[in-house]
Amino acid sequence: MIRSLLVIAALLALSHTGAQASDEERLEKARAAAGEVLFQHRCRACHSPDPAENTFGPSLVNVIDREAGSLPRFAYSDAVKNSGLIWSEDNLRAWMADNEAFIPGTRMRHVKISDVAEQDFLLAYIRSLEK
Ligand code: HEC
Repeated sequence: MIRSLLVIAALLALSHTGAQASDEERLEKARAAAGEVLFQHRCRACHSPDPAENTFGPSLVNVIDREAGSLPRFAYSDAVKNSGLIWSEDNLRAWMADNEAFIPGTRMRHVKISDVAEQDFLLAYIRSLEK
Protein backbone atom coordinates (compact mmCIF):
# COMPACT_ATOMS: atom_id res chain seq x y z
CA MET A 1 0.00 0.00 0.00
CA ILE A 2 2.65 2.51 1.05
CA ARG A 3 4.77 1.33 -1.89
CA SER A 4 2.11 2.28 -4.42
CA LEU A 5 1.60 5.65 -2.73
CA LEU A 6 5.33 6.30 -3.02
CA VAL A 7 5.30 5.48 -6.72
CA ILE A 8 2.26 7.68 -7.38
CA ALA A 9 3.80 10.61 -5.48
CA ALA A 10 7.06 10.25 -7.41
CA LEU A 11 5.29 10.06 -10.78
CA LEU A 12 3.16 13.10 -10.01
CA ALA A 13 6.27 15.06 -9.05
CA LEU A 14 7.97 14.00 -12.27
CA SER A 15 5.04 15.08 -14.41
CA HIS A 16 5.01 18.48 -12.71
CA THR A 17 8.72 19.13 -13.08
CA GLY A 18 9.52 21.52 -15.90
CA ALA A 19 11.03 20.17 -19.11
CA GLN A 20 14.10 22.36 -18.60
CA ALA A 21 15.03 20.55 -15.37
CA SER A 22 17.97 18.18 -15.56
CA ASP A 23 17.45 14.46 -15.01
CA GLU A 24 19.09 14.73 -11.59
CA GLU A 25 16.76 17.58 -10.57
CA ARG A 26 13.75 15.57 -11.73
CA LEU A 27 14.91 12.51 -9.81
CA GLU A 28 15.60 14.53 -6.67
CA LYS A 29 12.08 15.98 -6.88
CA ALA A 30 10.57 12.54 -7.36
CA ARG A 31 12.52 11.14 -4.41
CA ALA A 32 11.47 14.09 -2.23
CA ALA A 33 7.80 13.55 -3.16
CA ALA A 34 8.01 9.87 -2.19
CA GLY A 35 9.87 10.93 0.96
CA GLU A 36 7.08 13.31 1.90
CA VAL A 37 4.60 10.43 1.81
CA LEU A 38 6.86 8.36 4.05
CA PHE A 39 7.44 11.31 6.36
CA GLN A 40 3.70 11.83 6.76
CA HIS A 41 3.29 8.16 7.71
CA ARG A 42 6.35 7.60 9.84
CA CYS A 43 7.62 10.91 11.25
CA ARG A 44 5.01 13.68 11.02
CA ALA A 45 3.16 12.60 14.17
CA CYS A 46 6.13 13.96 16.12
CA HIS A 47 8.16 16.14 13.74
CA SER A 48 6.93 19.29 12.04
CA PRO A 49 8.23 20.47 8.66
CA ASP A 50 7.94 24.00 10.10
CA PRO A 51 11.33 25.16 11.43
CA ALA A 52 9.76 27.23 14.21
CA GLU A 53 7.74 24.33 15.53
CA ASN A 54 9.10 21.75 17.94
CA THR A 55 6.22 19.40 18.62
CA PHE A 56 6.73 16.07 20.34
CA GLY A 57 10.04 15.87 18.49
CA PRO A 58 12.47 18.60 17.36
CA SER A 59 12.08 20.27 13.96
CA LEU A 60 14.00 18.45 11.22
CA VAL A 61 14.36 21.52 9.01
CA ASN A 62 18.12 22.00 8.41
CA VAL A 63 18.91 18.89 10.45
CA ILE A 64 21.54 17.73 7.93
CA ASP A 65 25.00 18.59 9.30
CA ARG A 66 23.42 19.96 12.50
CA GLU A 67 24.85 18.87 15.85
CA ALA A 68 22.62 16.27 17.49
CA GLY A 69 20.47 17.63 20.31
CA SER A 70 21.26 21.26 19.57
CA LEU A 71 17.93 23.05 19.04
CA PRO A 72 17.56 25.57 21.86
CA ARG A 73 13.90 25.13 22.71
CA PHE A 74 13.68 21.34 22.74
CA ALA A 75 14.12 19.09 25.78
CA TYR A 76 16.33 16.33 24.40
CA SER A 77 17.34 13.18 26.26
CA ASP A 78 20.83 13.27 27.74
CA ALA A 79 21.69 10.42 25.37
CA VAL A 80 21.09 12.55 22.26
CA LYS A 81 22.40 15.78 23.79
CA ASN A 82 25.69 14.18 24.86
CA SER A 83 26.14 11.97 21.79
CA GLY A 84 28.60 14.38 20.19
CA LEU A 85 27.20 13.40 16.79
CA ILE A 86 26.69 15.51 13.70
CA TRP A 87 23.68 14.53 11.60
CA SER A 88 25.55 13.59 8.45
CA GLU A 89 23.48 11.70 5.90
CA ASP A 90 25.20 8.46 6.97
CA ASN A 91 24.32 9.07 10.61
CA LEU A 92 20.73 9.88 9.65
CA ARG A 93 20.54 6.57 7.76
CA ALA A 94 21.83 4.67 10.79
CA TRP A 95 19.31 6.49 12.99
CA MET A 96 16.39 5.70 10.65
CA ALA A 97 17.48 2.07 10.41
CA ASP A 98 17.50 1.58 14.20
CA ASN A 99 17.55 4.71 16.34
CA GLU A 100 17.65 2.83 19.65
CA ALA A 101 20.74 0.89 18.65
CA PHE A 102 22.40 4.01 17.22
CA ILE A 103 21.88 6.17 20.34
CA PRO A 104 20.88 3.92 23.25
CA GLY A 105 18.72 5.82 25.74
CA THR A 106 17.01 8.07 23.18
CA ARG A 107 13.44 9.10 23.92
CA MET A 108 12.38 8.76 20.29
CA ARG A 109 10.09 5.81 19.69
CA HIS A 110 11.76 3.00 17.82
CA VAL A 111 11.87 3.40 14.03
CA LYS A 112 13.25 0.80 11.68
CA ILE A 113 13.57 1.96 8.08
CA SER A 114 16.32 -0.24 6.76
CA ASP A 115 15.35 -0.08 3.07
CA VAL A 116 18.03 2.12 1.47
CA ALA A 117 15.60 3.44 -1.16
CA GLU A 118 13.21 4.57 1.57
CA GLN A 119 16.11 6.24 3.38
CA ASP A 120 17.00 8.00 0.10
CA PHE A 121 13.43 9.27 -0.21
CA LEU A 122 13.33 10.58 3.36
CA LEU A 123 16.72 12.26 2.99
CA ALA A 124 15.60 13.92 -0.26
CA TYR A 125 12.48 15.20 1.49
CA ILE A 126 14.49 16.48 4.48
CA ARG A 127 16.91 18.23 2.06
CA SER A 128 13.92 19.82 0.31
CA LEU A 129 12.90 21.45 3.63
CA GLU A 130 16.23 23.28 3.97
CA LYS A 131 15.94 26.99 4.56
C1 HEC B 1 6.69 9.03 18.38
C2 HEC B 1 7.35 10.27 18.04
C3 HEC B 1 8.44 10.26 16.98
C4 HEC B 1 8.41 9.71 15.72
C5 HEC B 1 7.29 8.90 15.07
C6 HEC B 1 9.67 10.06 15.11
N1 HEC B 1 10.43 10.80 15.96
FE1 HEC B 1 12.31 11.54 15.59
N2 HEC B 1 12.38 12.27 17.51
C7 HEC B 1 11.38 12.17 18.46
C8 HEC B 1 11.86 12.65 19.74
C9 HEC B 1 11.07 12.71 21.04
C10 HEC B 1 13.21 13.07 19.52
C11 HEC B 1 14.21 13.57 20.56
C12 HEC B 1 14.94 12.30 21.02
C13 HEC B 1 15.83 12.44 22.23
O1 HEC B 1 16.07 13.58 22.69
O2 HEC B 1 16.28 11.37 22.71
C14 HEC B 1 13.49 12.82 18.10
C15 HEC B 1 14.71 13.12 17.49
C16 HEC B 1 14.97 12.96 16.14
C17 HEC B 1 16.19 13.38 15.49
C18 HEC B 1 17.36 14.13 16.15
C19 HEC B 1 17.17 15.63 15.87
C20 HEC B 1 18.13 16.56 16.60
O3 HEC B 1 17.84 17.79 16.62
O4 HEC B 1 19.16 16.11 17.15
C21 HEC B 1 16.08 13.02 14.18
C22 HEC B 1 17.11 13.24 13.08
C23 HEC B 1 14.79 12.36 14.02
N3 HEC B 1 14.16 12.34 15.23
C24 HEC B 1 14.32 11.85 12.83
C25 HEC B 1 13.11 11.15 12.70
C26 HEC B 1 12.64 10.59 11.45
C27 HEC B 1 13.35 10.69 10.12
C28 HEC B 1 11.44 9.97 11.74
C29 HEC B 1 10.57 9.19 10.78
C30 HEC B 1 11.21 8.09 10.10
C31 HEC B 1 11.17 10.16 13.15
N4 HEC B 1 12.20 10.88 13.69
C32 HEC B 1 10.04 9.69 13.81
C33 HEC B 1 10.11 11.67 18.25
C34 HEC B 1 9.71 10.96 17.12
